[in-house]
Formats: sequence, C-alpha cells, structure tokens
Amino acid sequence: MSEPIRFYYRGTVQQVDGAAPTRTVLQHLREDLHCTGTKEGCAEGDCGACTVVVGTLKDGQVEMQAVNSCIQFLPTLDGKALFTVEDLQQHDGALHPVQQALVECHGSQCGFCTPGFVMSLWGLYLKQEGAKPSRCQIDDALSGNLCRCTGYRPIIDAAERMVELPPAQFDADDVAAQLQALKRERMAVYTGGTHDFYAPRTVAELAQVRADKPAATMLAGSTDVGLWVTKQMRDLGDVIYLGHVDELKTIAERDGMLEIGAGASLNDAYAAVVRHYGELQEMWQRFASLPIRNAGTLGGNVANGSPIGDSMPWLIALGSSVVLRSVRGERVLALEDFYLGYQKKDLQPDEFVQSVRVPLPRAGLGAVFRTYKLAKRFDQDISAVCAAFALTLDGDTVTSARIAFGGMAATPKRAAQAEQALTGQSWNEATLHAAMAALAQDYQPLTDMRASSEYRLLAAQNLLRRFWYETRTDAPLAVDAVNAFAVRA
Ligand SMILES: Cc1cc2nc3c(=O)[nH]c(=O)nc-3n(C[C@H](O)[C@H](O)[C@H](O)COP(=O)(O)OP(=O)(O)OC[C@H]3O[C@@H](n4cnc5c(N)ncnc54)[C@H](O)[C@@H]3O)c2cc1C
Ligand code: FES
Ligand code: FES
Repeated sequence: MSEPIRFYYRGTVQQVDGAAPTRTVLQHLREDLHCTGTKEGCAEGDCGACTVVVGTLKDGQVEMQAVNSCIQFLPTLDGKALFTVEDLQQHDGALHPVQQALVECHGSQCGFCTPGFVMSLWGLYLKQEGAKPSRCQIDDALSGNLCRCTGYRPIIDAAERMVELPPAQFDADDVAAQLQALKRERMAVYTGGTHDFYAPRTVAELAQVRADKPAATMLAGSTDVGLWVTKQMRDLGDVIYLGHVDELKTIAERDGMLEIGAGASLNDAYAAVVRHYGELQEMWQRFASLPIRNAGTLGGNVANGSPIGDSMPWLIALGSSVVLRSVRGERVLALEDFYLGYQKKDLQPDEFVQSVRVPLPRAGLGAVFRTYKLAKRFDQDISAVCAAFALTLDGDTVTSARIAFGGMAATPKRAAQAEQALTGQSWNEATLHAAMAALAQDYQPLTDMRASSEYRLLAAQNLLRRFWYETRTDAPLAVDAVNAFAVRA
C-alpha cells in the first residue's frame, strides 16, 4: 500500500501523495508549493541556481548539506528536512547574516544565481559555527555555483563577512526531534501514477526488493540518474532507493582493507580514503562540486561505471574489489573485472553493489602512487583523461605496476602493456619511454567534445612522464623543474 511522502519544511511536516516518483524537488517547490525563490538554471546539477539545504538524521543529530534540487526526486525527501532561501529571513524580518553580507559586499547583480549562492553559503555558515572560513573552504563551498554577472570576488568577500555579523540561531535539536518523529523502521513504498518507489531500510530488505523487482531502476544519490529524467526524459519505471539503507553507508577498516559502503556519500568516502592516500586530496576536491559530492555516492560512481568517471582509475590502480550482493549471497570481484564493455557490467539483475574494498597501504613496500585528472576547469568538470599509477619499488627496480586510465577506452581500463614494460625494470628514463610507447598499444581513445584521440594519447603518455618525474629514484629533480613540467602537462 502506498504511503505518503513526509518531510519537514518551513516549520511543518509536508505530506505528498500521488506525485510522480520522478517529480523533482525543484518542480515541487516552484510549481506545487509556489516557493519560487529557488531557481532553475541548467536542470543538470551544474549551475547551482537550485541549491537547497537538506537535513538528514545521522546518529541522532541532523546533518545539513547543500544539494541540487533540480536532480533530486521528491520521494527521496521522505524523513528529511528541506530548507530553501525562503527559510533564511529572521523572525524580526531582518536578513540572515549570509544575505546581509551579500548586500554589504555587492555580491548580487541580476540576482538569478543569488538564492543558490545564499544556500551554499548557509551550508558553510552552519558548519563554521562562527569561525572564519578559509579561502579554500569558501571556494569549495561555492564550487557548484555559477554567476554570470557579479563575478566571484564580492561573493567571496561576503563569505568572509557573514561570520563577522551578529549571528543567526538555528535550532538543530528541534529539527532532529522532528525528523526522529518521521523516522520509518521498515521499507516504505510510495506509488505515484503507474510507478512505485521502494525505500528499503536494511540490506536484507533491499536484496529482497531487488530480487522481486529486477527491472526497477536503482537510485542512490541521483547525480547520474536525475539527469536521465531531466535531460533525456527517460521513464525510469519503478525505482528502488538506497538512500535510507544506513548499513550501506558504513565505512570500516578490516583485514588490511578500507570497506566503503556503496551508499556512503562521495564526500565521506573520499574523506576516509584521503586519510590513507593523501595523494587523492586533489581528486576529492576536483570531483564535481560540493553539492554533488554531498548527494552522490561512491557506489553510484562505480555502478554507473562511466568510462570518464573519476574514482575507477585510482580504485583499480590500488587493487580494489567490489562486493556484489543479492538474496543469493555475496560475490567479490576485482573492480577491473566488473566492467565488461561500454555500459556493460558483470552485475546480475537481482544484484546490487554493496561495498567497495580498498587495500590499505602496507608499510615498507616502497610503494608510489599518484592520480591525475585532466579537465578544462578545476571544479565541476568531467575528465578528458584521468590516470592512476601505483608502483612497488625494490630499490630502483619496479617489482609491480598497476596503471589504470579513464577517458581512454569504453571502460575504465588497466594498461596491461605499459605495466609489462615497467615490471622488473629499473625506474629510469629508458623504462619510462618504453612504457609510454606501450600505452599506444593499450589504448585507441575516441575523439569527442572533450578531447581528440591524439590529445588523449599524448596526454596519457605525458602523465606517465610526470609520474616518473615526481617519483624517479635515480636523481631527485629540482622542485622548480617538476613544477614547470606540471604546468606544461
Ligand atoms: C554536475 C555533475 C558533475 C559531475 N562530476 C563528476 C566528476 O567530476 N567525476 C565523476 O566521476 N562523476 C561526476 N559526475 C557523475 C556522478 O556524480 C557520479 O557518477 C556519482 O558518483 C553517481 O553517484 P550517485 O549516487 O548519484 O548515483 P545515481 O545517479 O543514483 O546512480 C548511478 C548509476 O548507478 C546505479 N547504482 C547506484 N547505486 C547502486 C548500487 N549500490 N548498486 C547497483 N547499482 C547502483 C544506478 O542504477 C545508476 O545506474 C557528475 C555529475 C553531475 C551531475
Ligand atoms: S538548475 Fe542548475 S544545478 Fe540545478
Ligand atoms: S548575479 Fe546575475 S548570474 Fe549571478
């Protein structure tokens, strides 16, 4: 039997019945509730005009995160709290410090992008608890917001100014209490039109509904699937939503592995991995934008398996595996074996990705690891080429090599020939050149709007060269020379 969607918005519990399961939060706000402060720019998670903050109950506390309402489906709000720019005005009618700071710093011109910036800044404001944000924190918070007229400096000034103004209170305990009352213990089924939206609470419930509904679309953070609806106008049929399965969000260290639940957000997953592999810090920062990383999951990145996805090259280079689950039990595959061809995976209709296992670094192995993303912009851009290299060295001899690329083939793929050219050889320039040449046998990349085939191959070879400069064992290179090369590459 269908249960209504219930979420907390503007001081009350909203209840929705009958809307299509793929109606977006943005459509509901603007067209049903007539709360038109939140804007639509791109409808694909790129511009940030639609940014809202969603509160989720986590270990009894409310976690507040900026997300793109244009690609989130309404039923995913069940049991959560929604905040939009309409919420920010103070009880006495005064502007919120975030808004006041934007006024004082001239952070708005035509104003179309402003509600989105306000909500991203509010997300930052809540996290900072009065502390001045660093420039890096501001840039990260605003990585998903585009402004076409003001320019960013006044907005960045406002981000610094907002914490100097008299603070605004936010009663997180009250929101947590509201969400506690909305919490469901068992799977909820919501029906809108002819389609059902299943929201299991446990892995066992998820496995069962997956077995019962093998044709249904799996939905996690909706940062890929949302666009199938808003851009490709696809009918998803029934939907199985993973976002309420807390077991899938756990991240644990065991048996020399970091096991990351498929439902862990990209932000939580990268934070955990970066604690062990500091080399992934830049990849974390450059993966889409903060709102996309708040909503999107590592499991979704792996399951979608886009040839230009950013996590697969480093996961494969580190020797990660994927745990698949169904009512029949678990199956563990090396991640590179999961990808069979373009958009083809070794995933049975009743299976889902339960977790990803990343080997932890082992002391004394002489391991070197790097990952590089080439895209036209620093933030919020898809890779043209994404590379990951992991070598084990004994002195200057390469005892093992794992190289994986994105953007070079129909799937994320290892460079078997280049690995062979490296293994057992000295990590010197001659070996480097042999491995660079071998990359041309490993890959025949496509030409598309992001890059030509020739560019991709040359860039891949030069990334390997850069890796060598950064990790060579014969003569350490002056830092200036490395930096000069990095700029050219
Ligand atoms: C603006 C924007 C920028 C982006 N930038 C980047 C980027 O820089 N790098 C990058 O790699 N990607 C990027 N993406 C793509 C996307 O954010 C990632 O692929 C993300 O990890 C998808 O996760 P999700 O939870 O949102 O997946 P969803 O969209 O919910 O699902 C994606 C696919 O995986 C399936 N699925 C999800 N979870 C499971 C599971 N546990 N088991 C089985 N199947 C499952 C779904 O059915 C679907 O086929 C971007 C997307 C947008 C909109
Ligand atoms: S409308 Fe552009 S990100 Fe949502
Ligand atoms: S103020 Fe016009 S787009 Fe930002």
